[in-house]
Amino acid sequence: MTRIGIIIGSTRPVRNGEQVAAWVHDLASQRTDAEFELIDLRGQRLPLLDEPKPAMWGDYRHEHTKAWSARIAEFDGFVVVTPEYNGTAPGALINAFDYLFAEWADKPIGLVSYGVLGGARAAEQLRLMCGTLQMAVMGPQVLLSFATDFEDQTAFRPTERSVAALTALLDKTVTWSIMLAKLRETALAAA
Ligand SMILES: Cc1cc2nc3c(=O)[nH]c(=O)nc-3n(C[C@H](O)[C@H](O)[C@H](O)COP(=O)(O)O)c2cc1C
Repeated sequence: MTRIGIIIGSTRPVRNGEQVAAWVHDLASQRTDAEFELIDLRGQRLPLLDEPKPAMWGDYRHEHTKAWSARIAEFDGFVVVTPEYNGTAPGALINAFDYLFAEWADKPIGLVSYGVLGGARAAEQLRLMCGTLQMAVMGPQVLLSFATDFEDQTAFRPTERSVAALTALLDKTVTWSIMLAKLRETALAAA
């Protein structure tokens, strides 16, 4: 079965990200074409990148890196739920991406962002970064605005439009997860 990880991009003790990720997980879990699992960076306890070699070498020294590598390697695709911090994605999220390379490559990723302007600037930064990691960033994306999808910037109340946008994003992410798994298998067989 195709497996898709939903990454919670915020690690703050009180975070809107949890409600948003739960919504993504709930809607996704109604599908029968893939399995979905939450990935909480807070539980992963990754320090600021402390590996001696760049991740593309795949030569990891630390146990926390090996554990993170094993966690991410098991998924065929991802949905990332990110807030916008100072016009970009949270440092903890970028740090978690920086730790690995092959585990991300040739896999799709869908972007769900939130903020004053729907977290659009964070999503754009992730689009660039994930492209560099050789991920396939999905065209459909979900931009959740504090003006329309939250009450008092804290209670998450997604609009019908956001539900439709998430459905489109999941459709695409599942299809690409299935197709890119075949591509990775073919590449492995030819190696
Ligand atoms: C360090 C920091 C920087 C922020 N910068 C932005 C920003 O640039 N744009 C924006 O729309 N919201 C910004 N916010 C507000 C966040 O979007 C809002 O607090 C959101 O709930 C954060 O997500 P979280 O609660 O899941 O951590 C910022 C919040 C923090 C903590």
